Amino acid sequence: MKKKKISPSLLSANFSNIEKDIKMLEVAGVHLLHIDVMDGHFVPNITMGPFIVSAIKKVATIPLDVHLMIENPGDYTDAFIDAGADYLTIHYETSRHLHRVLQKIKSSKIKVGVSLNPHTPVSVLEDILPDLDLILIMSVNPGFGGQSFIPNTINKLKKLKKLLKDNNAEHIEVEVDGGIKLENIKTVSEAGCDIFVSGSGILKTKKPQDTIQKMMKLIG
Ligand code: DX5
Ligand code: ZN
Repeated sequence: MKKKKISPSLLSANFSNIEKDIKMLEVAGVHLLHIDVMDGHFVPNITMGPFIVSAIKKVATIPLDVHLMIENPGDYTDAFIDAGADYLTIHYETSRHLHRVLQKIKSSKIKVGVSLNPHTPVSVLEDILPDLDLILIMSVNPGFGGQSFIPNTINKLKKLKKLLKDNNAEHIEVEVDGGIKLENIKTVSEAGCDIFVSGSGILKTKKPQDTIQKMMKLIG
């Protein structure tokens, strides 16, 4: 049985005092910190690069879960590994030579993941399952925090569960990203999610620490 983990998205944090939010999340007992890297090409938004990741690494005591929403991710994986990524996830849609980039990340002994946009079926992963530690299912179109959860994600998670079972790959962690809140986290968990990314669903609530405690109870 895989451990269920909460990975708050720092996209909804206060970047003028990021350390305060990180400490608050760590005290609340979250397992990972999710960092959304956007390039203004693959997604219509620009966020942070390796420089910011390494600044976060200096103050964080829990692992960094870095989600690259950038074109040509293979050109940047070394920079993010050097910056301190513990999990590094690239998008299936950005990588013509996906296997090569995954191998490159894997050779650094960190956890390697692939993310799928809402329109990309889980079946495309079948032949790279042996190379993966994590699969990140986007439950919104990547680019912005605060969007609504796409309901078909639940179907997709069920298909993924079957794919992993049929290929003896149930050790791979399944992460879901976008629109996860107190109201839907239990359903997402029951559909097979192991790592829950939540930005606004945690950090934009009145008492983020209480929200985290409630989420932890709901995912058991
Ligand atoms: C979207 C990002 C998400 C986002 C989640 O492109 O990958 O991580 O920040 O934010 P919420 O939880 O607010 O949907
Ligand atoms: Zn993300």
